[in-house]
Amino acid sequence: MPGIVHNTLLCLLLLLLLLFKTKAASDNESFIFNGFQGANMSLNGLAEITSNGLLRLTNNTKQQKGHAFYPTPLHFNTSFSFSTTFIFAIVSEYANLGAHGIAFVLSPNTDLPGSRVSQYLGLFNETNNGNSSNHVFAVELDTILSSEFGDIDDNHVGIDVNSLRSVNAQPAGYFSDGNHGFRNLSLISGHPMQLWVDYDGPNMKLNVTLSPIKASKPVVPLMSITIDLSNSTLDSMYAGFSSSTGSVFTSHYILGWSFRINGRAQDLDLSHLPSLPRVGPKEKPKVLTVGLPVILSVVALTAASIVGVTLWRRRKFVEVMEDWELKYGPHRFSYKELYTATRGFRERELLGAGGFGRVYKGVLPKNKCEVAIKRVSHESRQGMREFVAEIVSIGRLRHRNIVQLLGYCRRKGELLLVYDYMSNGSLDKILYEGTKKDTLDWSQRFRIMKGVASGLLYLHEGWEQLVVHRDVKSSNVLLDGDMNGRLGDFGLARLYDHGTDPQTTHVVGTLGYLAPELSKTGKGTTATDVFSFGAFLLEVACGRRPIDLREEEHMNLVDWVLDHWRRGTVIETVDERLGGEYVVEEVELVLKLGLLCAHVVPSARPSMRQVMQFLDHDVELPDFSQDYMNVGIPQMEGYHGFDDFFMSYATSSYQKFMHSSTAEVSLLSGGR
Ligand SMILES: *[C@@H]1O[C@H](CO)[C@@H](O)[C@H](O)[C@H]1NC(C)=O
Ligand SMILES: *[C@@H]1O[C@H](CO)[C@@H](O)[C@H](O)[C@H]1NC(C)=O
Ligand SMILES: *[C@@H]1O[C@H](CO)[C@@H](O)[C@H](O)[C@H]1NC(C)=O
Ligand SMILES: *[C@@H]1O[C@H](CO)[C@@H](O)[C@H](O)[C@H]1NC(C)=O
Ligand SMILES: *[C@@H]1O[C@H](CO)[C@@H](O)[C@H](O)[C@H]1NC(C)=O
Ligand SMILES: *[C@@H]1O[C@H](CO)[C@@H](O)[C@H](O)[C@H]1NC(C)=O
Ligand SMILES: *[C@@H]1O[C@H](CO)[C@@H](O)[C@H](O)[C@H]1NC(C)=O
Ligand SMILES: *[C@@H]1O[C@H](CO)[C@@H](O)[C@H](O)[C@H]1NC(C)=O
Ligand SMILES: *[C@@H]1O[C@H](CO)[C@@H](O)[C@H](O)[C@H]1NC(C)=O
Repeated sequence: MPGIVHNTLLCLLLLLLLLFKTKAASDNESFIFNGFQGANMSLNGLAEITSNGLLRLTNNTKQQKGHAFYPTPLHFNTSFSFSTTFIFAIVSEYANLGAHGIAFVLSPNTDLPGSRVSQYLGLFNETNNGNSSNHVFAVELDTILSSEFGDIDDNHVGIDVNSLRSVNAQPAGYFSDGNHGFRNLSLISGHPMQLWVDYDGPNMKLNVTLSPIKASKPVVPLMSITIDLSNSTLDSMYAGFSSSTGSVFTSHYILGWSFRINGRAQDLDLSHLPSLPRVGPKEKPKVLTVGLPVILSVVALTAASIVGVTLWRRRKFVEVMEDWELKYGPHRFSYKELYTATRGFRERELLGAGGFGRVYKGVLPKNKCEVAIKRVSHESRQGMREFVAEIVSIGRLRHRNIVQLLGYCRRKGELLLVYDYMSNGSLDKILYEGTKKDTLDWSQRFRIMKGVASGLLYLHEGWEQLVVHRDVKSSNVLLDGDMNGRLGDFGLARLYDHGTDPQTTHVVGTLGYLAPELSKTGKGTTATDVFSFGAFLLEVACGRRPIDLREEEHMNLVDWVLDHWRRGTVIETVDERLGGEYVVEEVELVLKLGLLCAHVVPSARPSMRQVMQFLDHDVELPDFSQDYMNVGIPQMEGYHGFDDFFMSYATSSYQKFMHSSTAEVSLLSGGR
């Protein structure tokens, strides 16, 4: 009997001791991984531990994400501190391009459900971004400029609390010790770098420090801010990493990681870190040197035939390269490479033809990257230099709603443009060729419209130089693997601006999307793009081409929708294939906005920035009158140009209208 009591007591004591021990441990939790060989991590998405112990968050795949967390939650009391350091590397297939980045994360869960790829870094999505109920703290290593989150550049470190709009961000770099000032670092260099995140809870100080590997921790942090994290974190949180890729093949690695609560993280042992896989082209196999004179003659014979073949191949793969192009080296593809990628531009690889040329699918031999290659015939050298400069500069920019241009190649009379391959094809194919079952539902359509608006706004305002697209239409909207609408072919029309015959104004674009003033001026502007976008909005909502020759009475979509609006039956114009399933307010917004964008008077159209605000419901679309759509119409007969008086009238009225959110401004009716 006493034995049992004794045992029970012992058990209780042990239990208490155990409880006490776990409590003590949780006050001072720490762990260290010098390489992740055999580590027990909670992984999801593409994240995996490679055979040599690298934690690879993403493995080259486009538009994907990966998460890796320490498997047990950590306990943060109200005035917690923590310290962490890790070594990472971002390895991209292209020297100057990467996407999208890595974030160190404290999160209530290990899978960040619903999070999106690309600029969302696998952390948030468009609905929960910025919501304080996320309880997510992150330090992002971001390699893309996402203007919607106010990013400072395409190579920065940012402190994120529940939102991708960083609390603070700085260009990647470090203050080297001994007063050598600030040094830049390129996150996508492929070289390992070390990051420290130190948070002092009682003093609410957060330091973030970056440095190249092997340098000691810089004394001056990259960022040192005062922030109270106690409200944004929960008692129990997981620590780990999140990463996402965009449209460029990029791998994100963590080589080692150390973490401690309420103390300084133990230093990593650099000598024990796993090594990164070799990057860059494989070394060419050495040619065997044969020193035997006996077979010299054989060699000579072979050489002769090689010269013959080489000459033939030279001609086959001949390119045009001028001095001014040298600086575009990284964006220049060799014709041979493209020829191999498309298996000699086989018919079977043809994705489509039309517009400016034929488009082929290809797989680049060097990195197995899927691409779309557009062959544009172009005889005139006029404007080519400008055009290439423009496409290369745009190619450097990345936006989720623009088809990424990877580079180009020039041959005699021909330009080849290499784009990212979009797995879901073009929007018009789905709109018109898809069966009722696999058509896009309203939310997908609305998302695509917003995406295209955002891409177009980016071309108009997002970069130091304005880019007019000139050919916005559903067949130029491509859908990526995530069903994001992306604008393709930007600026291509520009090449054809100078018609071969200066007597004829060669209007470029597509019937039905062309703003009326184009027939007079022939000049693409942001307003002509807005007109095309308006036609596009109506097209996607109604599931009808802007000009439908089969509809004799209502050939013109804009007129047809306008007519229905006047009769109060605008909702009847919505695509029947939606089966009546849509959000009425959104449909009405889209139809009215489409009409407004397709206004005959250029100055009466909103800007893309305003369009975006309307679509995002940031600004309510003013309740403009139907008469407003008539402004300018009487002068439009046969399109002889605008009456100057009328133009200025429309402009001032438009401004009045745009600034009056309350009252309906009626124009021709004289203010009613
Ligand atoms: C939180 O933990 C630290 C370290 O263990 C301790 O010093 C502090 O008193 C704790 N704070 C509270 C409010 O429990
Ligand atoms: C917590 O970590 C610090 C720093 O390594 C150490 O000095 C201290 O003894 C630890 N405290 C506990 C309770 O383990
Ligand atoms: C990994 O950690 C989790 C959580 O602590 C645990 O449930 C699991 O058994 C561990 N797995 C291995 C292989 O150690
Ligand atoms: C990347 O990871 C995914 C999922 O683990 C796998 O299916 C795919 O084959 C991997 N790709 C490469 C290139 O390793
Ligand atoms: C965003 O994520 C939240 C949860 O994290 C989820 O409930 C929501 O459905 C997601 N939204 C979208 C549009 O995916
Ligand atoms: C934040 O998220 C919570 C839970 O998902 C939701 O109830 C709330 O409406 C969201 N708040 C905002 C402003 O979106
Ligand atoms: C660092 O990069 C910025 C932005 O690219 C540039 O303006 C600055 O001159 C660079 N500084 C150094 C020291 O290279
Ligand atoms: C942050 O950096 C400053 C030096 O700039 C240092 O005085 C402070 O102790 C650091 N705080 C933490 C929490 O590391
Ligand atoms: C945290 O909560 C406290 C009390 O609820 C409040 O006074 C403080 O301003 C909050 N801090 C932040 C950063 O939200």
